[in-house]
Amino acid sequence: MTSPRSLFAIPRPVFSSHDQTSESSDSNLNAQQDGHYSVMLSEIIAALAPQDNETFVDGTFGAGGYSRAIAQQADCKVFGIDRDPTAHESAKKLPEVISGKISTLSGCFGDMQALLKQVDIDKVNGITLDLGVSSMQLDQAERGFSFQEDGPLDMRMDGPNSDQRPPASHIVNTYGEKEIADILYKYGEEKKSRLIARAIVTDRVEKPFETTLQLAELIRRIIRQKPRKDGKTIHPATRSFQALRIFVNDELGELERGLEAAEQLLAPGGRLAIVSFHSLEDRIVKNFLRERSGGTPQGSRHSPTVEPAALRKAPFSLPAKKAIAPSEKECSENPRSRSARLRVAIRTDAPCTKGAAT
Ligand SMILES: C[S@@+](CC[C@H](N)C(=O)[O-])C[C@H]1O[C@@H](n2cnc3c(N)ncnc32)[C@H](O)[C@@H]1O
Repeated sequence: MTSPRSLFAIPRPVFSSHDQTSESSDSNLNAQQDGHYSVMLSEIIAALAPQDNETFVDGTFGAGGYSRAIAQQADCKVFGIDRDPTAHESAKKLPEVISGKISTLSGCFGDMQALLKQVDIDKVNGITLDLGVSSMQLDQAERGFSFQEDGPLDMRMDGPNSDQRPPASHIVNTYGEKEIADILYKYGEEKKSRLIARAIVTDRVEKPFETTLQLAELIRRIIRQKPRKDGKTIHPATRSFQALRIFVNDELGELERGLEAAEQLLAPGGRLAIVSFHSLEDRIVKNFLRERSGGTPQGSRHSPTVEPAALRKAPFSLPAKKAIAPSEKECSENPRSRSARLRVAIRTDAPCTKGAAT
């Protein structure tokens, strides 16, 4: 639906390739978002640079902070995807949704091509992802993401009525000791994963795990809370809860599918902007973009012929090689932003890696 544009016409993101922290202020844009704080909002808008008549995908709609800011920048169309039914309920009240400037689509961003096909869109000019759970999801004890307040041990972003996947309690109560330890280690980088897994399988014989505090208390028994180098303490259950949440929602698989879909969906000159919150996510984004922005290897004196696949132009170019961190100002205004990292890429006119003829 969008015609290919000259790469020279692409609005460039405002940060330089050497920037690691941004000086821009999110608070001005966030001030328009009814008290909701969207992480690195002005950097996202700078990276996406919305223009009139363009189409955008916000793959993690949440409270709609990114979608609304995009829609306010230009006469453009935004499709907001979220897997959480409650996000769609609250979206109905937003003026940009009521006016039709933003349309919401229910499902996972890993399936964004199929979701957009349903509304006859096969190319877009920008895609953004703000990975992980929202503050609303974290703050609602009944969703089971919080180790601070008691709730059912659920953690499904699709909601407690999801028929797509089992709740966290199912994993904790039925998986073998080694499987649990592997999940905690792989997705939470929890060094005491084996000890925690052993205690879980012992304790669950007496009383199966049903609530978040039941699990958080068991972990607190095993790991002593120590202050970090910066003097702050993190709750001993932080890494295990992160691991279970990532596993329950197949978050890393979703990210891999979302990146592939973004390559297919973005029109030449299209912008991709992804905010991640931990190293597992950021590594996937970094490796994908590095691989897909490799350029054309040249034949050498010793090997003058290059395989046709290697001659292919790279589907992405990177305006900044390093991830961008939030400004000090944002970190002090919203401490939850502290671990955020933004990576940006621009779609070239090269064919997609998958599905391209060799
Ligand atoms: C961090 S919040 C996004 C906040 C949003 N940027 C804002 O400014 O309001 C993440 C949201 O993405 C949703 N989400 C996470 N993974 C998803 C996926 N694979 N597909 C669709 N939605 C997802 C979550 O349900 C949550 O509502």
